Amino acid sequence: MSKTLYSPDSFEVSQRKKDHIELTHKSKTSAATVDGRFNYEPLFFTHPEPSETWLSPFLGFNLDYPIWVSSMTGGIEKSQLINHNLAKLCGEFNLGMGLGSCRSLLNSSDRLSDFAVRKYLGDQPLFANIGYAQLEELFSSKKFQLLHDLVKKVEANGLIIHFNPLQEWFQPNGDKYKMNPLNTLKSFLEVSSYPVIIKEVGQGMGPKSLKALLDMPIAGIELGAYGGTNFSLLENLRSANEAEYKKPFIHVGHTALEMVEILNALPNKGKEFIISGGMKTVLDGFELKSKLKSPSLIGMASTFLGPAQESYEVLREHFLDMKEALLVAKKILNLKENQ
Ligand SMILES: Cc1cc2nc3c(=O)[nH]c(=O)nc-3n(C[C@H](O)[C@H](O)[C@H](O)COP(=O)(O)O)c2cc1C
Repeated sequence: MSKTLYSPDSFEVSQRKKDHIELTHKSKTSAATVDGRFNYEPLFFTHPEPSETWLSPFLGFNLDYPIWVSSMTGGIEKSQLINHNLAKLCGEFNLGMGLGSCRSLLNSSDRLSDFAVRKYLGDQPLFANIGYAQLEELFSSKKFQLLHDLVKKVEANGLIIHFNPLQEWFQPNGDKYKMNPLNTLKSFLEVSSYPVIIKEVGQGMGPKSLKALLDMPIAGIELGAYGGTNFSLLENLRSANEAEYKKPFIHVGHTALEMVEILNALPNKGKEFIISGGMKTVLDGFELKSKLKSPSLIGMASTFLGPAQESYEVLREHFLDMKEALLVAKKILNLKENQ
């Protein structure tokens, strides 16, 4: 049935009018709750069409939206479903994806199927992932070749190396960092022929580390900032005796906002960024992407985890809502100059 322009008697309209009267008392805001980060410009807006995109170049790839699926899992039974669903999403919507730690593939291909997602992604960017502790081990045993083999094995475009010293410290039997990380990384970069991204896993990094990374021949940095999933906390929860003396370290680190401000004050040197760690709402990602002066994507991990475990359809619906909200933000908001 076609909608008439004005049909005051229709049930829907009269119900809406009743709701308006009944819900008015619950619908008051106070000036103190305004989200003051953005200018809101209703006169420059049209609602996004379902096919609308936000073309986002990243490391030479073309993404349809500035969204990166941040590294999560691999190596256990559940990983396969999660990774395959995430990769299908990236394939369908032209996004990019980081695999979770591929450590289990260094010496064996038994769990390759968890990570074998290239078929879904087409030409979209896919990055393998390894912890710095493994980089050290491979450096000591002169086996960097295993990492080059790994990147080929999963048909990745490059490698993400995560630095997670506090997580390792909290983790029962966690790995120890024994060598100067910058020297190890430098040695690796001299022999790697693919793009390398460096990230943290939920505590971000400070100005000295960021500056040191900007001076290196890496492709980019994923913030992995404080404010979202926190692996020190997670490992502390896992350990049988939660260690009181370690607990204060759960809360050290740098938020994504702080890291963006640090990065804006440093010379960029051609790097690209994935803003991740606590991007709880699309508006958080939109704010920081607008603020960072260098090319960037918004990276999200945990928000995709639940839907990816349920089914591809659930994950897809979740993403459709997210990208619609992102497009609404792009079209109706802009960052206030003093922000
Ligand atoms: C279940 C899970 C597993 C993760 N595993 C890895 C990993 O293997 N390698 C890595 O670099 N980061 C890993 N991360 C960290 C994320 O990539 C991301 O930096 C962090 O979760 C912050 O993003 P969020 O707040 O959107 O979750 C993992 C995150 C989650 C939730």
